[in-house]
Amino acid sequence: MNAIMVKNLKKYYGSTKAVDGVSFEVFEGEIVALLGPNGAGKTTTVEIIEGLRKKDEGEIYYFGRKVDQIDKDVKSQIGVQLQKTAFFEHLTVYETIELFAGLYNIQAKKNDIENLINLVALQEKTKSRVKNLSGGQLQRLALAVALVNDPKILFLDEPTTGLDPQARRHVWEIIEQLKQKGKTIFLTTHYMEEAEKLADRVFIMDHGKIIASGTVQELVKSIGMDSYIEFSADNSQVLLKEIVNLRTADHDKLILPVSDVEESIHMLLNKAKQLEINIDNIVIRRPNLEDVFLNLTGHSLRD
Ligand SMILES: Nc1ncnc2c1ncn2[C@@H]1O[C@H](COP(=O)(O)OP(=O)(O)OP(=O)(O)O)[C@@H](O)[C@H]1O
Ligand SMILES: [Mg+2]
Repeated sequence: MNAIMVKNLKKYYGSTKAVDGVSFEVFEGEIVALLGPNGAGKTTTVEIIEGLRKKDEGEIYYFGRKVDQIDKDVKSQIGVQLQKTAFFEHLTVYETIELFAGLYNIQAKKNDIENLINLVALQEKTKSRVKNLSGGQLQRLALAVALVNDPKILFLDEPTTGLDPQARRHVWEIIEQLKQKGKTIFLTTHYMEEAEKLADRVFIMDHGKIIASGTVQELVKSIGMDSYIEFSADNSQVLLKEIVNLRTADHDKLILPVSDVEESIHMLLNKAKQLEINIDNIVIRRPNLEDVFLNLTGHSLRD
């Protein structure tokens, strides 16, 4: 069953085509990651689906029912974590959750609030004021707030942006727990690692359009390359002219997509010897979502 389906969503801001004909479905119980660089249209897309922004065109369905205006019924089934959440700085963690429960007209019992606080591992911060929380703790509080109405579908807009690796992993663990509880999760991110780690399916977005979708495995397979050989060379210009498909990447690295690693390594080393070029730092790795994005768009996810 579809938890969410959208058809041909569009939202233009003047000449900016923020969302330009987006269609997809999200199945019950899966985690979908909408992956794309800054300005791709991720937030605009989710906020339209959440009913926070008006669409220019398109259709939105929740659990098979066409929804023109987000009504009470939908509201009770969705939880929303915005890209930036504003809390009242002087309230404590406990009071903040209590406040949001109140906004939903939920008579939250002490026990319910404490369970939520436990779920996002903020037990020790129950009585701390919001202004004294770290970035990771704030993100976890935002998660708790998105869960006050025990929603079936959870929208998370960049749930780990700006967090250090440890705090990020912590949020990932919580998201995985929520999936195990049966939640359907739609998250946006510009971290390929986040999509690879969490998502059952990934929708790759750029310039207002979804340009590819599928499991990480399917997407990576679609490149049609088995591996990438990365290395540095003391005269990369000459090599670039000599080897088809060879391209430059960050930090003066060279990258060669290959379908036969052994053969290609031989070829590379022979060429280098023949041209008297020194090759160093050779790494062989599998393609990842960054490669998929680069392949599709010619530019990088991070810029
Ligand atoms: N209210 C607005 N008025 C004008 N332009 C807007 C508005 N909201 C978004 N845009 C533009 O629409 C495009 C998509 O923005 P959006 O915030 O959806 O991107 P995003 O993928 O969420 O980016 P980020 O990763 O930075 O959060 C951008 O070019 C942005 O400048
Ligand atoms: Mg955004």
